[in-house]
Amino acid sequence: MPIKRFTIKSNLKDYEVLFLDELEVKNILLDLTNSLFIIDYNVWSSYNNNFLFFLKDKNKLILKAKENLKSFKSVFSIYEKAFEMDAKKNINLVAIGGGIIQDIVGFAASTLYRGINWYYVPTTSLSQVDSCIGGKTSLNYKKYKNLIGTFYPPSKIFIYTHFLKTLPKEYYYSGIGEMIKLFIIAGHKKSINIYKNINKIISRNDSDFLLKYIIDSLCIKKSYIEKDELDKGIRNYLNYGHCFGHALEGAINFKIPHGIAVVFGIMIANKISFDRQMINEEEFSFINRICFPLIEGFKINGTNIIYDIIDFMKKDKKRTGKDLPMVLIDKNYNFKLINDIKENEVINSFNYFINKEIFL
Ligand SMILES: NC(=O)c1ccc[n+]([C@@H]2O[C@H](COP(=O)([O-])OP(=O)(O)OC[C@H]3O[C@@H](n4cnc5c(N)ncnc54)[C@H](O)[C@@H]3O)[C@@H](O)[C@H]2O)c1
Ligand SMILES: [Zn+2]
Repeated sequence: MPIKRFTIKSNLKDYEVLFLDELEVKNILLDLTNSLFIIDYNVWSSYNNNFLFFLKDKNKLILKAKENLKSFKSVFSIYEKAFEMDAKKNINLVAIGGGIIQDIVGFAASTLYRGINWYYVPTTSLSQVDSCIGGKTSLNYKKYKNLIGTFYPPSKIFIYTHFLKTLPKEYYYSGIGEMIKLFIIAGHKKSINIYKNINKIISRNDSDFLLKYIIDSLCIKKSYIEKDELDKGIRNYLNYGHCFGHALEGAINFKIPHGIAVVFGIMIANKISFDRQMINEEEFSFINRICFPLIEGFKINGTNIIYDIIDFMKKDKKRTGKDLPMVLIDKNYNFKLINDIKENEVINSFNYFINKEIFL
């Protein structure tokens, strides 16, 4: 495998992504002294007797990853554990888990002593493909996602793809949903590539093949975040599928994993692009065909849910005017953040997929 590491350029501090094998991860983690490890409960259960056995005697906090963990209460539990260790500014936090563990550990690291060093070992497809870079840390406010947060990247990210073997299917698919999003925003050629290979990626049989797609996804994301780190311009395109996706997650109380909700959101956004004649029928149906293998098996129950989804969309943090914001695809795979989406356009688009029995 030629690429073993790359650097993300950041105004805050440059940081590195390293692709490692079992022994390399183990050696690096063992070398981290003065560290508090914050580990996902399911990851610890799956690996504490084998791969992560070497962490048995380290300072640890094991947390159950649920959306309601993204709260100040969890952040305080990290501070508390750190203070118990008599932490000073030179303590390291090491997060091992998916996006939830990443979000709260990143937030804790950015605020403890106004900023301490942290490392991240992503263990889900979503975190390996997407969330591990970009430097965002987030907490939820009540039912509303990611309203509180900071920009604070880890110093290093260690990617070990074998973790994905134990990841439950719905969460595995969730990360592949974000991968699809990244490949579509990268243009027509990349979209054809992911379309042709989506079934092989979903099968999880070939870890070298998968690693290539993880690296490609991160390189696409890297190109956006390096140009617009603080989300003022083109980084917004990474939000493709997210305005509807986040609202859907809220309305159904997170019963569908994030990346799958994003895929539903991509389909809704494309229908609106099609209705506004920004893309033609062939482009519209091609992107739907990329999405279908992922949403199969995930259904949205109840057609009235759309009114709750609209209510959540009105709370979207990107909304500034009276209408709704959405990232739409335009001709030649150009993306735009459109702020004048009408409620009716979203409802019509939703009903289109309901009537075709695609979302039910
Ligand atoms: N900070 C960012 O830039 C960013 C970007 C995208 C998403 N997010 C956030 O990430 C969260 C979703 O994260 P996620 O999809 O990575 O997963 P997650 O952290 O929600 O974990 C999903 C489930 O998988 C389990 N798990 C994790 N790794 C495992 C493994 N290797 N084997 C077995 N089980 C494992 C967890 O215990 C949990 O039950 C959302 O809260 C979302 O808002 C953050
Ligand atoms: Zn996302």
